[in-house]
Amino acid sequence: MTEIPTGSRPLFRLGAVLAVAALALTACGPDQSMLSPVGADAGRAAGLWWLMFWLGAGIWVVVTAATLYALYRRQPGRHDPLAGRRWENTPLIWGGIVLPSIVLVVLTGATVDAMRHADPPAAAEATVVQVIGHQWWWEVRYPERNVVTANEVHVPAGRPVRLELRTADVIHSFWVPALAGKIDLIPGRSNTVWINTDRPGVYEGQCAEFCGLQHAKMRFRVVVDDEPRFQEWLAAQGESAAEPADALAARGRQVFLSASCVYCHTIRGTATVSAIGPDLTHLASRDTLAAGIIPNTKGHLGGWIVDPQQVKPGARMPNNYLPPDDLQALLAYLGSLE
Ligand code: CUA
Repeated sequence: MTEIPTGSRPLFRLGAVLAVAALALTACGPDQSMLSPVGADAGRAAGLWWLMFWLGAGIWVVVTAATLYALYRRQPGRHDPLAGRRWENTPLIWGGIVLPSIVLVVLTGATVDAMRHADPPAAAEATVVQVIGHQWWWEVRYPERNVVTANEVHVPAGRPVRLELRTADVIHSFWVPALAGKIDLIPGRSNTVWINTDRPGVYEGQCAEFCGLQHAKMRFRVVVDDEPRFQEWLAAQGESAAEPADALAARGRQVFLSASCVYCHTIRGTATVSAIGPDLTHLASRDTLAAGIIPNTKGHLGGWIVDPQQVKPGARMPNNYLPPDDLQALLAYLGSLE
């Protein structure tokens, strides 16, 4: 005869699922947790989260206690059905109508208040940054300064920055949990999110709307700098690309201009104009490659140029089997683009 499953088995499974879920949550780390807010909007979102958490926890405790009470209380012998019904109506009215109404009104009020603050009036002095989602990377533009970069949003600390979000293809979602709320990039329209923090640092972000094969590898970082460093960065990014400093880099530029790179990439200061892929004018100043997936080192860059499909299968960039000497020259040139 087969053994009859014991009653503890479902409980054991539930415990295992909860343990895995808890482990998965711990992997979120402080870098990408909305519960470690440093931005004004993110702080309000986190406050709302905790309000919902504690209200939910309180309701859970009350409902569980009521359920246990109903299960284990002694059944009184009731001979008067009307008397029983009167007693049962009271918890029904309070637990089913009055308390839920109060909870919903409180939560709606708190949510509306948080949303109202999420859209501060357009300040004339606010820096405007345009962020354009692509499968699967982020184009970042500073229209006032003619700066174009990718996958890194630099903002000054201590004053609000307005991010205008658009998409070049499908729906993406811009989310940097420590700094601001999540907002979708929707074809045909422009959405806005504000970043306002006085804490310099590097904050990790992530596309939060499924957008195709490499959605999970559509990351970015927001770099919050103090005002002088931000202005310095902005001025440097506004410059055209540096002239090659040596013969190897000069040859690398020739390789870049004669290979298929130019069909998708721009390096300002050369004759390239395509905006299909990331602007590479100051590639070497960025910390990561391929939308925050790999560190920006010579080795990783070489691997990415030769075989991007290995790193991000489905990426729009094709493999480029350059002769070794050409590849070394190209890496020397790209590595000089500070
Ligand atoms: Cu872009 Cu998910």
